[in-house]
Amino acid sequence: MSEILYLNGDYIAPTEARISVFDRGFMFGDGVYEVIPVYSGKLLRGKAHLARLQNSLDAIDIPNPLSLTAWLEIFSTLITHNHADADSVIYLQITRGTMSKRDHAWSSDMQPNVLVTCSEQFYASQDSATAGAKAVTLADTRWSDCHIKTINLLPNTMLLQKAMDQGADEAILIRKNQAIEGSQSNLFIVKDDIVLTPPKSRHMLGGITREIIIELCKQNKIICREKEINEDELHRADEIWLSSSTREILPVVTLNQHAVGKGRPGVVWQQIIQLYQDYKLRVMRAPDGR
Ligand code: PDD
Repeated sequence: MSEILYLNGDYIAPTEARISVFDRGFMFGDGVYEVIPVYSGKLLRGKAHLARLQNSLDAIDIPNPLSLTAWLEIFSTLITHNHADADSVIYLQITRGTMSKRDHAWSSDMQPNVLVTCSEQFYASQDSATAGAKAVTLADTRWSDCHIKTINLLPNTMLLQKAMDQGADEAILIRKNQAIEGSQSNLFIVKDDIVLTPPKSRHMLGGITREIIIELCKQNKIICREKEINEDELHRADEIWLSSSTREILPVVTLNQHAVGKGRPGVVWQQIIQLYQDYKLRVMRAPDGR
C-alpha cells in the first residue's frame, strides 16, 4: 500500500483518503485508469501511458483535469516519498466526479475525482518467470470498447477468477474464433520463429508493453507481425507469451492443460525477455526514464 497517495490535490495517508459514495466511479464504474511501471524510481514510458490515458478520457468524454507537467510532478512526488529507489508501480484513476444524488445521466460540468498511488512492486525475475504460466481459453464476454482502459473491470475479474478456479493463471479470451488478449494482458504467439500478435482493435487494450516488444523485435531482427490469431493457431503455437506492465513478458507453458511447444518457456521468449531486461536497464540509466 502507498505510504502517501494523491487525492484531488492533497498528498495524504491512505487512511485519510475519503471519497463520496456518490462518486460515479464508485456507483457506475464511470472512470478510467492507468498502471505505469517504475524501475529504480524511473517511469517506463510514462508519456505513452499518459497519451493512452488521454485517449481513454476522450472516448468517455471526461476532460483531463491535469496537464502533462502536473501529472509528471505528482508521479515524481509520490515516487520520492514512497519508494524512491525501489521498483514500484503508479496506479492512477480518474472518475467523472461526484453526483448530488444517484443519477445515470451526468452533467458536463462535473469535477473529476483523481487518485494516484505508488506501491512497491516485485517484478518477476527472469528466473522465476522461467517456471511459466498456465492459461485457459474462455469466451470473451466483455463489451465492444475494450480499447478504453476503464475501471469497470467486472468482466475481466470474473474471467480471471474463472481461469483461476480451473487452476490457471490467466484466461486467453476468444471472440468469434479469434484469440484477442488475456483478461489483464496482451497476447503473443511464436510459430516457426515468427512472432505474431493480434492487431490493435476496439476489442483489445493496446498495451504499452506490447508496443515495446514489437519495437524490440524490429530492432533485433526478430520477425514480428501484427495479425489476427485464430483459436486453431493459438493451440498449434510453439510459444505463447502474455505481456503487461506488471507481469512484463510471461511465457505460457500449458494451454487448457496441454503443453505449449515443449512445455517450457521457448527460445524466442528467452531472447525477448533478455532484450526487455536490457531495455529496462537503459531506462533506469536515462535521466528521466523513457
Ligand atoms: N492491465 N490488456 C488488458 C485487458 C489489460 O488489463 C492490460 C494491463 C494489458 C497490457 O497493457 P500494458 O502493457 O500497457 O500494461 C492488456 C494492467 C496492468 C492492470 O489492469 O493492472
